[in-house]
Amino acid sequence: MKAIHFLVFFVLLALASSFASAFDPSPLQDFCVAIDDTNLNVLVNGKFCKNPKYVTADDFFYRGLNIPRPTNNPVGSNVTAVNVDQIPGLNTLGISVVRIDYAPNGGQNPPHTHPRATEILFVQEGTLYVGFVTSNPNNTLFSKILNPGDVFVFPIGLIHFQVNIGKINAVAFAGLSSQNPGVITIANAVFGSNPPINPFALSRAFQLDLNVVKDLQAKFGSNK
Ligand SMILES: *[C@@H]1O[C@H](CO)[C@@H](O)[C@H](O)[C@H]1NC(C)=O
Ligand SMILES: *[C@@H]1O[C@H](CO)[C@@H](O)[C@H](O)[C@H]1NC(C)=O
Repeated sequence: MKAIHFLVFFVLLALASSFASAFDPSPLQDFCVAIDDTNLNVLVNGKFCKNPKYVTADDFFYRGLNIPRPTNNPVGSNVTAVNVDQIPGLNTLGISVVRIDYAPNGGQNPPHTHPRATEILFVQEGTLYVGFVTSNPNNTLFSKILNPGDVFVFPIGLIHFQVNIGKINAVAFAGLSSQNPGVITIANAVFGSNPPINPFALSRAFQLDLNVVKDLQAKFGSNK
């Protein structure tokens, strides 16, 4: 009797895992170039697909990731994303890339998560202090100082960051395991939501004085 329960449990588990798809779906054809004009589409898997007979090399192409981006903003970084919105040929392929520029002396890509992607980061220039934190209850920090040529991985969904601890600009490139990784910047989401989260709720949640919460909401809010 026990053994049969066990068997049923495993069959159910196998069924459940075959229905669950935690990552971008596998492509069902060689490619599926995204298109906005639905009159020209033939298939759907992610975004609408362009009729293959109209697909060109430009659908798989992007130019300009060599250009340094300005970092004169409050956090001192600039993320240039190249995902399915920039390269329509990435549709259904489960991959994308970013360039990140960091200002000297503390320019940073502040704590954030990608709800749909693991990230693998490669440092081209400069010195970065990077890390990610595991989920509750351990909240273990895995961190590292990276130099040119170093590579570090941020597992899907976990909060991570990079800080330029050098005196020169830093530049990194990263591959992400989604055509549309998404990004949730923690401070912006929590203190800059629209409309704002009730400051009394945040005061208790973060164990902060109400005035500190209001100050943070003023800094990160959309009406700043
Ligand atoms: C990042 O660079 C782009 C391209 O130069 C610029 O338009 C944008 O304002 C910059 N973003 C930030 C946050 O500085
Ligand atoms: C989390 O912490 C607990 C208690 O210290 C420990 O027993 C457990 O192995 C840790 N788990 C991981 C995944 O590190």
